[in-house]
Amino acid sequence: MQRESDGEARQSGRVYELPSILERLDLATLFPALQPLEVELGCGDASFLVEYARRHPERNFIGVERLLGRIRKLDRKGQRAGLTNLRGVRIESSYFLAYLLPPHSAAVLHVYFPDPWPKKKHLKNRLVNERFPDLARQALLPGGVIYLRTDDADYFAQMGRVFAAHAAFRPAETPLTLSEQVTDFEREFQARGIATLRTAYQRD
Ligand SMILES: C[S@@+](CC[C@H](N)C(=O)[O-])C[C@H]1O[C@@H](n2cnc3c(N)ncnc32)[C@H](O)[C@@H]1O
Repeated sequence: MQRESDGEARQSGRVYELPSILERLDLATLFPALQPLEVELGCGDASFLVEYARRHPERNFIGVERLLGRIRKLDRKGQRAGLTNLRGVRIESSYFLAYLLPPHSAAVLHVYFPDPWPKKKHLKNRLVNERFPDLARQALLPGGVIYLRTDDADYFAQMGRVFAAHAAFRPAETPLTLSEQVTDFEREFQARGIATLRTAYQRD
C-alpha cells in the first residue's frame, strides 16, 4: 500500500517517472484523454511546449529532455499553467523513440535546436543522423510530420540530406501559427541577430 501511494505521489506532477525503461509507454495512463499526440525531443526549459500545449488543449504533448534541471522546469511551468495535456519524460531522445514510444503513435515530432556538435570528431553525436529518419518513421502515424529548426547551417544541410535520402519522407510546410511560436534558444539567437533555419518532412 505504501509503495502504491509513493508511486502515485511520484506521478502527481507533469514529469512521468518511467516505471520501466524496458516497456513502452501506456499512453492511456499518461493523459486524462486520448487525443492526437505531439512529442518534442530535447525540449529544454519547455517554454515552447508549455505555451503550445496551452494553445492546443485538444492535443497531448510529451517533452523529452535528458537534463534534470530542465525537465523540472517543464514540471513547474506545466503545473503553474494547470496543463493536463502535457507530460515530460527524462530520457535520451533516440532511446525514447526506439524503445519507449509506442510505434506509430505520434502525429507530430518537434526537434528544435538540437545540440549541433560542430566539431568534426563530435558529428557522430548529432541526434538527426542517418539512422534518425527510421526512428521518426517508426514513431509517427501515417501522414505524421516532423518539424525541425536549427541555427547551424551544416546541421541544417545534414537534416535535409538524411530525410531526402529516406523514401518514406517528403518535404512539408510549417504552418504560420507554429513557426510564429519561438523556442527559448530561438529567442536568444534572435536577440543576438543569429539567423535560424527551419524545415519539415511528412511521412508516407
Ligand atoms: C540547444 S537546447 C534547445 C532546447 C529547446 N528545444 C529550445 O529550442 O529552446 C538542446 C536541448 O536538448 C537536450 N538534449 C540534447 N541531446 C539530447 C538527447 N540526445 N536526448 C534528450 N535531450 C537532449 C539538451 O539537454 C538541451 O536541453
